[in-house]
Amino acid sequence: MPAGAKPPPGPRLPTEKRIYAIVGAGGVGKTTVSASLALAFAARSQRTAVLTVDPARRLLEALGLEGSGGGALVEVSGQGHGPWAQALDVQTALARLVEEVAPNRSAAEALEANPVYRQLVEGEAGAEEIAAVAALYQLAADRRFEKLVLDTPPAANALEFLEAPGRLRAFLESRAIALLLAAAGVRPAGSSSLRQRTVGATTALLLRVFARATGSQLIGDLAAFLQIVSAAKERLIERARAVEELLRGGETGFLVICAADPVSTREAAAIVKRLDDLRLPVAGVVVNRVHGRPRARMRGKALQERLARSVDPALARRLAENLDYLRRISAGERAAIDELAQRLPGLPILTLPELDGEEQGLGALHKLGGLLFK
Ligand SMILES: Nc1ncnc2c1ncn2[C@@H]1O[C@H](COP(=O)(O)OP(=O)(O)OP(=O)(O)O)[C@@H](O)[C@H]1O
Ligand SMILES: [Mg+2]
Repeated sequence: MPAGAKPPPGPRLPTEKRIYAIVGAGGVGKTTVSASLALAFAARSQRTAVLTVDPARRLLEALGLEGSGGGALVEVSGQGHGPWAQALDVQTALARLVEEVAPNRSAAEALEANPVYRQLVEGEAGAEEIAAVAALYQLAADRRFEKLVLDTPPAANALEFLEAPGRLRAFLESRAIALLLAAAGVRPAGSSSLRQRTVGATTALLLRVFARATGSQLIGDLAAFLQIVSAAKERLIERARAVEELLRGGETGFLVICAADPVSTREAAAIVKRLDDLRLPVAGVVVNRVHGRPRARMRGKALQERLARSVDPALARRLAENLDYLRRISAGERAAIDELAQRLPGLPILTLPELDGEEQGLGALHKLGGLLFK
């Protein structure tokens, strides 16, 4: 923040939740705020874990996560009071999920080796979103953690990952999957009618003939994939429900992060609305990277003349122009924040300052975290 500028005042963060899910559009500071919040809780003697998603290298270094790999939980300070940080490892989180829901070890291994499954988890098909939620669920089960902070992926649709459990459940319960399973010759749980079995067996035979004719392995792989998923269906549905409960229950609060410009603040208001529609509890909005308001009262020519008494006139002109520019930026940001507050009456709207390039690493995160509690 430039010297002589003071951080804008704001309300306090509600601190009673156990889980804070940090959401927002790409690049607004979700990972930075997640790490800062975790440090701030730890500084208040609360045993805290933060799950970060794809952190920038500098942040990884600051948190001591560089080279940790495999989704390990690493203590940030190394002094026994945390916070503990984990960089999401999609493959590890999904492998754990598979182990937990698969009926047995060999089914889990078969699923992990299945090409359709591999395509799903290695592709762009929302694997990161599902993994983030799965990893949160695993961390939440560890009751030693009093506070959990969940950073979220830079999804095109910022809330896509929250819909993953619901979508998975709807998919598993849908007619489409029942038909696919029948086509693959897998009998849906609880249905044993001769007709269904015959349909399944006939279709399976046709699929095999088709697979042989086309030389395609895909259909066999898909059938095997569906067979294992079908066996794990009940547990997957139960897990998806449990995750929804975790996110909807009183334990969790969502913090929406945005930048201090009208496009970003409007986007944040839309995200809050979407969270409300999904019955997910919003704890507040954090407007990040707010510039301090210049304290100098004078402006324009008057300021320039005043400055020219102490410095070279050319420099005085540039300083005055810069200060006026900063004042305009600050006024625009203030207007965007005021508009946001009007759109979201009653919701805490916090602000965090734009840090200058020299404030980096753990110190910068501590500073931002402290400001969330001020
Ligand atoms: N208050 C701040 N002051 C200065 N720089 C900041 C501030 N907050 C975040 N940044 C910088 O902005 C960049 C983006 O931040 P960050 O990675 O936390 O965003 P993100 O929302 O997690 O992004 P993504 O959507 O890609 O995951 C980083 O370089 C970070 O250091
Ligand atoms: Mg991020």
